[in-house]
Amino acid sequence: MPISEDQVREALRAVRYPGFSRDIVSFGLIKGIDVNDGEIKVQLALATNDPNVPATIKNDAEKVLHALNGVRTAKVLIDIHAPPAGAGAQVGPQRLPGIKHVIAVASGKGGVGKSTVAANLAIALEKAKARVGLCDCDIYGPSISTMFGTRERPTATDENKIIPIEQYNLKLMSMGFLLDDTSPAILRGPMVTRYTQQFLRQVEWGELDFLILDLPPGTGDIQLTIVQTVALSGAVIVTTPQEVALIDARKAATMFEKVNVPVLGLIENMSYFISPSDNKRYDIFGSGGGEREAKRLRVPLLGQIPIDIATRESGDRGHPIVAEDPQSPVAREFSKIAQAIREKLA
Ligand SMILES: Nc1ncnc2c1ncn2[C@@H]1O[C@H](COP(=O)(O)OP(=O)(O)O)[C@@H](O)[C@H]1O
Ligand SMILES: [Mg+2]
Repeated sequence: MPISEDQVREALRAVRYPGFSRDIVSFGLIKGIDVNDGEIKVQLALATNDPNVPATIKNDAEKVLHALNGVRTAKVLIDIHAPPAGAGAQVGPQRLPGIKHVIAVASGKGGVGKSTVAANLAIALEKAKARVGLCDCDIYGPSISTMFGTRERPTATDENKIIPIEQYNLKLMSMGFLLDDTSPAILRGPMVTRYTQQFLRQVEWGELDFLILDLPPGTGDIQLTIVQTVALSGAVIVTTPQEVALIDARKAATMFEKVNVPVLGLIENMSYFISPSDNKRYDIFGSGGGEREAKRLRVPLLGQIPIDIATRESGDRGHPIVAEDPQSPVAREFSKIAQAIREKLA
């Protein structure tokens, strides 16, 4: 049986975009496949400034093609173009006009407290007299709308720009403001990419010192879209002290390294629990994990947030803890983290 084009395409699904969970086929990089009597030629096109990306893809792709039954030669040709300039461009990280620093809050694993951290960090920065925006990039599972207790609908300007919602003097954008209910958005890949780009480029953020991006977990489509759309000043990785979370945190850190985004540091969330009844400390998810991982990644451990009932309750009620109780230990830890980030970026 001669090798078919479909077989080649299927085989290429095993090749990932370096640092990301998405494969090169679903990301639409394949421009042509030519199979002739066991001689395979694949044409790819991608936009990047990083020479390692095409080299890795070429190497990985040729490897999987050589493993096909009946292959004689396998050649992968990559057409590399520089990321285009201009608004609405599909790829190419660019500075967002008027915004000094864009910071991604990321994690490998879900439910570790990214949104909680992103919301409270944004408020802590604002309290330190910065102009701050918070963009909920979790298109499938938005939570910033809930955490800020508003489902106000954004309006648009005459130039078709979306006006963000204002709360606690922060500019907010979330899919939760656009959906009618809280059910996760059922969206296909390309739509998610478009929403993500619109949230970044088509929102009237105005002049900001910091735009905080609350990312979904993992290293998928949305992350890839973000790093290709905006120039990030850095990323903050949230993890719990548990080994499973740390492994995923490492993956997230690697993803940012691959695209030359500095990891500003690690935040360990749910670090410990102080029992209100006896004031004793319990290391529910183990201890020292964040510290070890930060050392391994050679980044600072920016802070440790305990498991805290008030933090959870205030988030659920729509008034993040830093706004509701600025003197609480958790709020002070967030202020310390905000200060460390300001200093790092100053
Ligand atoms: N330090 C904490 N103490 C108590 N509850 C927390 C803490 N951090 C997060 N939570 C709770 O855990 C759940 C998941 O947090 P969330 O910030 O939505 O995580 P993610 O964005 O990573 O999925 C939420 O209900 C949140 O209130
Ligand atoms: Mg979240």
